[in-house]
Amino acid sequence: MNILGIETSCDETAASVVKNGCDVLSNVIVSSLNEHSKYGGIIPEIASRRQMECINSVVEQSLIDANSSLKKIDAIAYTAEPGLIGSLLVGISFAKALSLATQKPLIPVNHIKAHVYASFLKDKASVEQFKAPQLPCIGLVVSGGHSNLYHIKTFKDFTLLGQTRDDAIGEAYDKVARLLKLGYPGGPVIDRLAKNGKPSNIQFTCAQLPGSLDFSFSGIKTAVLYYQLKNKRGIDYSDEDICFAFQQSVIETIVKKSLAACTQKNCKTLIVGGGVAANSYLRKQLSAEAKNHHIEVYFPPMKLCTDNAAMIAGLGYHWA
Ligand code: KG4
Ligand code: ZN
Repeated sequence: MNILGIETSCDETAASVVKNGCDVLSNVIVSSLNEHSKYGGIIPEIASRRQMECINSVVEQSLIDANSSLKKIDAIAYTAEPGLIGSLLVGISFAKALSLATQKPLIPVNHIKAHVYASFLKDKASVEQFKAPQLPCIGLVVSGGHSNLYHIKTFKDFTLLGQTRDDAIGEAYDKVARLLKLGYPGGPVIDRLAKNGKPSNIQFTCAQLPGSLDFSFSGIKTAVLYYQLKNKRGIDYSDEDICFAFQQSVIETIVKKSLAACTQKNCKTLIVGGGVAANSYLRKQLSAEAKNHHIEVYFPPMKLCTDNAAMIAGLGYHWA
């Protein structure tokens, strides 16, 4: 069964054809990110206007890349929620119009749940190493808008175990990068700079919220701000040292709560998705700690960590 996926929840316009919920036949992503970076965040009006302009050609290209056509598509899956309303509307309206015109069934998909589905996808570049995770498992979504922990029994049965009470982890990366004037998005640059940071006397801590699997990441950016105000850059600290200390603290918290969720639900499989799943330190720390606890951890291929339509088509298959 071939599913056409359409994703327009934030700055990207994406379309993909996925076979049987697993094989990624095409994965087209056009992003307007460059146009937003000078503002330090996404401007919804710019995002939805760009999506209106390019959705037609993105969907067409995804069919061409997959060596497919609308006739060979069995159903159309689209991101129904959550996301920027103007952006979502472009994808939703397009999917509905296409479904009406072609008489193909429509499948609404939740964007956050789809992020963890990325580990079940086999893209051309990762065919060799591919091994599908086992259900039930714990799903960790670490993105620009969400930090969620799920107990996943089946692809239709997700129980939310914990979520952020304020900022998402990706949002914390983006806000700290803004304080350090590193541009947007902040995750990749902090990831890179932190590699040259030294363990130092800079200590940032995240609220631990004992007894809960919820997260809180808003305090740490304020701690970074006050540290900057009280100390001199180049004399007391370097940007690299701040990135190191910040990253160490947020990743430690994510690792601790993810393993606690596995213990609580007696799960030996942990799957990770969302933009922050591309983070090198998270990959290293979580893999090492999971191994110590005899838990198998799965990260998607890099290009399926951030927003894409293959994850929408993939999860949509299970609702078809
Ligand atoms: O999943 P995503 O593409 O969009 C949402 O659904 O939110 O995630 C984007 C987020 C941004 O906050 C970005 O800074 C973060 O993912 N990100 C990273 C890395 N690459 C992207 N954060 C940490 N390390 C990275 N290497
Ligand atoms: Zn996302």
